[in-house]
Amino acid sequence: MFSKEYLYILLLLILLQKLFKNKKAKTSRELKLQQGYPLNSLLNFTELATKYGYASEQHTLTTDDGYILTMFRITRGKNCHGPIRDPPVLLMHGLLMSSDSWMDAGPKAGLAYLISDLCYDLWVPNIRGNYYSKKHIKLDPEKDHEYWDFSTIEFAYYDIPASIDYVLNYTMSEKINYVGYSQGGSTFLIMNSERTEYHDKIGVGILLQPGSRQIYTRSQLLRHFTYAYQINLTYLYKIGIYEALPLGGIVQKVAAFLCKNYIIADTVCRNFLSIIDSFHPGSVETETIRVLMGHFPAGTSVKNMAWYGQAMNVDVFQKFDYGPSKNLQMYGTAEPPPFNLSAVTVPVVVIHGRNDFLTSPADTDWLTNHLPNVLEDYYVVDPLWNHFDVTYSHFTAKSILPKIKEYLEKYSQIREMCLAKTQTINKYK
Ligand SMILES: *[C@@H]1O[C@H](CO)[C@@H](O)[C@H](O)[C@H]1NC(C)=O
Ligand SMILES: *[C@@H]1O[C@H](CO)[C@@H](O)[C@H](O)[C@H]1NC(C)=O
Ligand SMILES: *[C@@H]1O[C@H](CO)[C@@H](O)[C@H](O)[C@H]1NC(C)=O
Ligand SMILES: *[C@@H]1O[C@H](CO)[C@@H](O)[C@H](O)[C@H]1NC(C)=O
Repeated sequence: MFSKEYLYILLLLILLQKLFKNKKAKTSRELKLQQGYPLNSLLNFTELATKYGYASEQHTLTTDDGYILTMFRITRGKNCHGPIRDPPVLLMHGLLMSSDSWMDAGPKAGLAYLISDLCYDLWVPNIRGNYYSKKHIKLDPEKDHEYWDFSTIEFAYYDIPASIDYVLNYTMSEKINYVGYSQGGSTFLIMNSERTEYHDKIGVGILLQPGSRQIYTRSQLLRHFTYAYQINLTYLYKIGIYEALPLGGIVQKVAAFLCKNYIIADTVCRNFLSIIDSFHPGSVETETIRVLMGHFPAGTSVKNMAWYGQAMNVDVFQKFDYGPSKNLQMYGTAEPPPFNLSAVTVPVVVIHGRNDFLTSPADTDWLTNHLPNVLEDYYVVDPLWNHFDVTYSHFTAKSILPKIKEYLEKYSQIREMCLAKTQTINKYK
C-alpha cells in the first residue's frame, strides 16, 4: 500500500519536473511533498481534474467594478458517457472556500466530480478576494485597501452576475442552473432580491444549507470570531489589516503543516472542525482533512467577516451595517435595510442539515417561510448531517446528490436538442 503510493508520488514528481518551467514553484512543491504534505493539497483545480480524468478549463472574467475572477469548468465528467445536458450548472462555494473545496473529498464525494459525472457542463466560480480571484484591473490587493472594501453583498451584486453572464455568453445558453452552498446560497438570494433582471437567467436554484438570517448559529467559536471582526473593524483598518485568513497566511500555513500528519489530522484537526461546526463521527475521511487544509481558509476581506458578525446578532437578513450615521447616508435609514426575500421569485430548492451549527435549521426554516417560490424544503435524512458535510463528507453521493440530481434533471434537457433548436432558428433568421 505504502510503497505503491510512494511510487505514484515519485512518478508525479518526475512528471512535474518536466512540466514546470518555473523552478521556484517546482522546488517548493517538491519540498512540501518531501515534508509529507499530501499531493492533492498542493494541486489546483485543473490539476486535480486532470489527475482524476476530468476534462477541464480555466477562464478569466472581469466584473463591472473591475475585479478579475478565475472560474473553472469541467466540460465532461469522467463517468459521464451520455450527451451533455443543458443549461450549464454553476457550483458556488462558501465562506473562506474556493472552487477546490468541491474536490477535496476526492472523486467519489466531491460535488464538482459528482455533478459533472451526471453529464452537466459544470462551471465553478471563485469569489473576489480568494486565492484565485485576488486581482483587479486597477487596484493592487497588496497596496490598495480599497480593493478589500467588499462583503457578501458585492459578491452577490457583481461576482455572481458576471459569472452567469460569462457562462451564458460563452456557452450560448439562455439560462444556468445554480447550486450554491452556504455563502453561495446567500449570494444567490441577495442577487435575486437586488438584481431582479437576473431571474430570467436562472432555471432553478438549489441551495445547500444557505446562509440568510443567522441569529441561531450555534457555533460559539464562529460567533465570537466574527463578532471580534465586527467590533474591531475600524481598529483593524487603522492598523492596516484588510484581508482575513488568506491562503498562505499564518493560520492556513500552521493548519496545513499540522494537519498533513495523519494522526494529528484524525484527532486535533478533526476535533477542531467539529468545534467550529458539530460532531458527525465517520463522515469526513482523514485523508480529506489532510487535503482540505491546502485550500482552506482561502481568504476574504475583514469587512466580509464583520458582516457575518453582524448577521449572527440581528434577527433579519440585511445589508451591511455601517453604524447609524453612515447608514443614513448610504441607505436613508439608521438601520440597514433588510433584503426583500419576496422578490426572490425564481424556483428554489432548499436543502438543510439537522446538525448544522452554522446555518441552523431555525434560520433556514425562517428563510423558506419567507421565500415565495420554494419547490422543496428538504432535510437530509441523516440526523447528524452538518455544515461541512456538504463539501467534505464521503457520504454526499447518498445524502445530498440524489436531491440535486432530481432538480437539475427537471430543469434541463439534452444539449444536442437545444443546439438543434438554435440551429433551426438561425436557419430561418
Ligand atoms: C493550475 O496549474 C496549472 C498547471 O501547473 C497551471 O498551468 C495553471 O496556471 C494553474 N492555475 C491557476 C489558476 O493557478
Ligand atoms: C462573448 O463570447 C465571445 C466568444 O466566445 C467573446 O469574443 C466575447 O468577448 C464575449 N463577450 C463578453 C461580453 O464576454
Ligand atoms: C476587539 O474585540 C474584542 C472582543 O472580541 C474586544 O474585547 C476588544 O476590546 C476589541 N479591540 C479593540 C481594539 O476594539
Ligand atoms: C418586495 O418584493 C415584492 C415582490 O417583487 C414587492 O411586491 C414588494 O413591494 C417589495 N417590498 C419592498 C419593501 O420593496
